[in-house]
Amino acid sequence: MAQKIIKNGTIVTASDTFQADILIENEQISMICQDLSFDGAESVDATGCYVFPGGIDPHTHLEMPFGGTVSKDDFETGTIAAAFGGTTSVIDFCITRKGESLRNPIREWHAKSKDKAVIDYGFHLMIGEINEDVLNELPLILEEEGITSFKVFMAYKNVFQADDGTLFQTLKTAKELGALVMVHAENGDVIDHLVKDALEAGNTDPIYHALTRPPEAEGEATGRATLLTGLAKSQLYVVHVSCDESAQKIKEAREKGYDVWGETCPQYLVLDQTYMEKPNFEGAKYVWSPPLREKWNQDKLWNALKNGYLQTIGSDQCSFDFKGQKDLGKGDFTKIPNGGPMIEDRFSILFSEGVKKGRITLNQFVDITSTRIAKLFGLYPKKGTISVGADADIVIFDPTVERTISVDTHHMAVDYNAFEGMEITGEPITVLSRGAFVIKDKQFVGSLGAGNYLKRAHYGKMLTNGSDKVTV
Ligand code: URP
Ligand code: ZN
Ligand code: ZN
Ligand code: ZN
Repeated sequence: MAQKIIKNGTIVTASDTFQADILIENEQISMICQDLSFDGAESVDATGCYVFPGGIDPHTHLEMPFGGTVSKDDFETGTIAAAFGGTTSVIDFCITRKGESLRNPIREWHAKSKDKAVIDYGFHLMIGEINEDVLNELPLILEEEGITSFKVFMAYKNVFQADDGTLFQTLKTAKELGALVMVHAENGDVIDHLVKDALEAGNTDPIYHALTRPPEAEGEATGRATLLTGLAKSQLYVVHVSCDESAQKIKEAREKGYDVWGETCPQYLVLDQTYMEKPNFEGAKYVWSPPLREKWNQDKLWNALKNGYLQTIGSDQCSFDFKGQKDLGKGDFTKIPNGGPMIEDRFSILFSEGVKKGRITLNQFVDITSTRIAKLFGLYPKKGTISVGADADIVIFDPTVERTISVDTHHMAVDYNAFEGMEITGEPITVLSRGAFVIKDKQFVGSLGAGNYLKRAHYGKMLTNGSDKVTV
């Protein structure tokens, strides 16, 4: 690959903002300095633009079997849309099945991603049960696959839900092996009870999805998970925090000194529960778990990001068409497949609503969308920053473009956009993955299968510069 120079841009990292040029050689950043020139190098002009490290989306469900169907965006459409949105790495959830070797779903996830992904990708591993077979398999999976994060569902009773014993054992095992435990924190048993009550009373509209999954059920589960983490002296990452009740539990745990982290998602920052009351079943477009909340929670979540007791933003991309998939739940909200299309707009919404509106700083934006995620999930400093030796995963971002989010212009495969009509400022213009253009002047120029599988370092460790070797 020929050398490239990104010229005249403003480089932004989690700590600094400065004017400099970047030389890219052999997929990596090899030099950062002012007024760079290099014979034969291709020049990429970034005048007037920010030059960000590529976004890392730590929470996607691409082509995931769920709710009697399969999420629509796969590793092809999903990663192309991600790249358009400024994301250069995703970490997807590998869903396991009880009573079966963990290797089978891992093999399936490799098969569906390998020839499709246009950007780099890794997997988290769902833990649904802990037994001798699982305990025997896990150490090798960490070493051979570089899967260093486990996911436990505290909700979706009779589908994915694990009990507290499983969560506690997973926390202890993760501590021993050097992995980070992720939880979907909602009290699945209480929700199951409330859902039965609602259906018995004939309450079947989409809004009952929210009313049967109240914030107390999320706050309680978050509090329980953090206390069990303290008891196990382990490490926890709470995914998709939707409400103040849950954010407060994370804050409390961190103040006690527990190793607890929290992620929120763009949908909880800008949409609210009233969207689920839309007529003609349109509320189903906004059915995901945890549900959208009352609007006042949004300020609480922004403050949590600003003050650092929530640290990251994931998309929770899990898209279903309105026609043909969401309508499986017409007449029974429990049958609406849970999830939404968010992978493309995560980065730009956080910039526009966060940085442009003065809620977070430019450097916090980079930390929340990329750097902190790379550090937590064993990708740093190969990913997540702009430094010599890092992968040249770079977003050239015009902070002045004004545009309207719409299904008519998005690149996801689904037939609606949850942020339809939202006016935002800022747009990724050119996106590079390991030095190769994926998006050039807003056009897709990448290739299917160009994305590499990411073996990640153990929790709290770093990847050595320039190789997949884990430094432990
Ligand atoms: O509704 C959602 N969030 N669907 C994806 C699965 C999950 O719980 O993250
Ligand atoms: Zn190791
Ligand atoms: Zn979840
Ligand atoms: Zn999810």
